[in-house]
Amino acid sequence: MVQGYSRLQIILHWVVGVLIVFNLIFSDGMSELWRAVETGGNTDMTVTALLHILVGGLVLALVVLRLGVRLVRGAPEVPASSPLLEKAGKIGHWAIYALMIGLPVTGLAAYFGGVAFLAEIHGGPLKALLWVLIAGHVVMALYHQFVLKDGLLDRMRTPR
Ligand code: HEM
Ligand code: HEM
Repeated sequence: MVQGYSRLQIILHWVVGVLIVFNLIFSDGMSELWRAVETGGNTDMTVTALLHILVGGLVLALVVLRLGVRLVRGAPEVPASSPLLEKAGKIGHWAIYALMIGLPVTGLAAYFGGVAFLAEIHGGPLKALLWVLIAGHVVMALYHQFVLKDGLLDRMRTPR
């Protein structure tokens, strides 16, 4: 079992985190273009829509790399807290990984593959669930850091 996250794992965590939140917040251009596709309006590509697609595509590539690194190198044991929190942490992390793959894949399949119902899943339940999990993730990171005081944040700052 490795002692901590590597430099690459830490960089990927923060870069992917920022890109994902960027796409969660700045999606209006893509939504507008999609509305035009569905209603037969002006479907010319816009800068903001292109940015959404490129950032989302980059997220997909980096998350595949991230999962590869995790499978090959591994991840440190979850910090000892309670069995319930440890289980919730593991499930939560894997659910975030699944959504980090699921969001770009459904977006790409909707826009380039013409599978319209996936756009609703992409911009509806998947988006909402990812927001909830990120909020829970940040709250739990702060809980570890400031209530349990087990230095958890340092694990995503200092490579080991
Ligand atoms: C202020 C924001 C954030 C903080 C403070 C934070 C903090 C952390 C910390 C401390 C860990 C390590 C947990 C451990 O050692 O067991 C971690 C892991 C993780 N974080 Fe974050 N994080 C943030 C944002 C995000 C975002 C936006 C995402 C993705 C949407 C994300 C996805 C993950 C995932 C998937 C793991 C599990 C890594 C693994 O074991 O493979 N985090 N985070
Ligand atoms: C990190 C990955 C991604 C995230 C977090 C994300 C997030 C979002 C969000 C928040 C919306 C707005 C939904 C709403 O509130 O109406 C949206 C819309 C949309 N995105 Fe993405 N997206 C990602 C990647 C992609 C990719 C790679 C594509 C490929 C073309 C794409 C295509 C779309 C489409 C077609 C819509 C319009 C769907 C609708 O509004 O119902 N997305 N996305």
